[in-house]
Amino acid sequence: MNHIPVAIIGAGPAGLTLAHLLHLQGIESIVFEKRTRKEVEETVRAGILEQGTLNLMRETGVGARMEAEADHDEAIDISINGERIRIPLTEITGHKVAIYPQHEYLKDFIAKRLEDGGELLFSTTVDAVEGTGGTGGFDNDKVKVVYTEADGSSTTISADYVIAADGSSSPYRKIITEGSGVRVRHEYPYAWFGILVEAAKTQKELIYATHPEGFALISTRTDTVQRYYLQCDPNDTPDMWSDDRIWEQLHLRADSPGITVSEGKIFDKAVLRFRSAVTEPMQKGRLFLAGDAAHTVPPTGAKGLNLAVADVSVLAPGLVRALKKKDSALLDDYTKLALPRVWKAQHFSYWMSSMLHAVPDEDYFATQRRFAELHSVLGSEAGQRYIAEQYVGRDLPRFEV
Ligand code: DHB
Repeated sequence: MNHIPVAIIGAGPAGLTLAHLLHLQGIESIVFEKRTRKEVEETVRAGILEQGTLNLMRETGVGARMEAEADHDEAIDISINGERIRIPLTEITGHKVAIYPQHEYLKDFIAKRLEDGGELLFSTTVDAVEGTGGTGGFDNDKVKVVYTEADGSSTTISADYVIAADGSSSPYRKIITEGSGVRVRHEYPYAWFGILVEAAKTQKELIYATHPEGFALISTRTDTVQRYYLQCDPNDTPDMWSDDRIWEQLHLRADSPGITVSEGKIFDKAVLRFRSAVTEPMQKGRLFLAGDAAHTVPPTGAKGLNLAVADVSVLAPGLVRALKKKDSALLDDYTKLALPRVWKAQHFSYWMSSMLHAVPDEDYFATQRRFAELHSVLGSEAGQRYIAEQYVGRDLPRFEV
């Protein structure tokens, strides 16, 4: 049976970033991804890189295309019923964010992994992950991983550590929560209807807009492709949103003096669910959860990818120390070190969502209270600073190896 130090399930932000960080420290890994490379590289997802994430890309040699192609933004606008308030992120924090969609991030890490000769198996399903101890637990020496590649061939390898980074429906979470773990969830009474549009930018910076009828987000992809979201009902389907309805609602919710949402041909429509979920702990013996496999945040603020990168910023040095120095102390503390940031991101995403979205059948009192909360926070230097700091993100955890 072949042996690999680290087996990673899932070629998303957590899995690919981890494989790259391990490679830089001379640790070999294998990444299994059930989707095709094309699917991974084309799935439309959110688009904000926190300062820590974009610095990690730069510092680890994956940042060149992001640097050249992404918009680096110094501010966001929040529009409350047509009144636009600017949050000068860079003036307040000294940092910028990059507007760089997740699939572009993944493309860069996939290209780098392949260039570095890394093992990255697409169209490959993992059939079993098994502890090799007497009780079948995960505390003993090695973990067995059985996988099937696109050609139907099945292989069994052993690994020192297995990282489940296979997204929010990861089946491996159960292994961890069985017994003493917990999985907590929160559902929201709204969702986003997301569209891609062939149009010029409405303005350089993003606009998070709210209105008595709900939220709208004016984001961007390139100079000629824009990304817009409208709050919708979680049970809505794209056919319920005609182009006329979309434009009417975008103008109603997001236009403000001097700003008219730019229109164009709509070429992609999809409904995005809002969910929060957290798994505690994020590890059991030699099995670890990273990214969405461990936690999900609602999209407001686009924290999902950034949280995945924060997870593996703890996991990577933990694995390196355990494998090179036989010191597993950092790895043992993974949950303790990663979880506070997860809960803070849950709070920020939840809180921003609650201020910006109308609950179903929201009454006049609730709308005015919501607007007053936004005006209170944005009218305060401390409030603006808090939002700016959370939006650009705290520094990533750093550990010597
Ligand atoms: C985008 C998504 C978000 O959730 C957000 O807060 C900002 C931008 C985007 O997809 O562009």
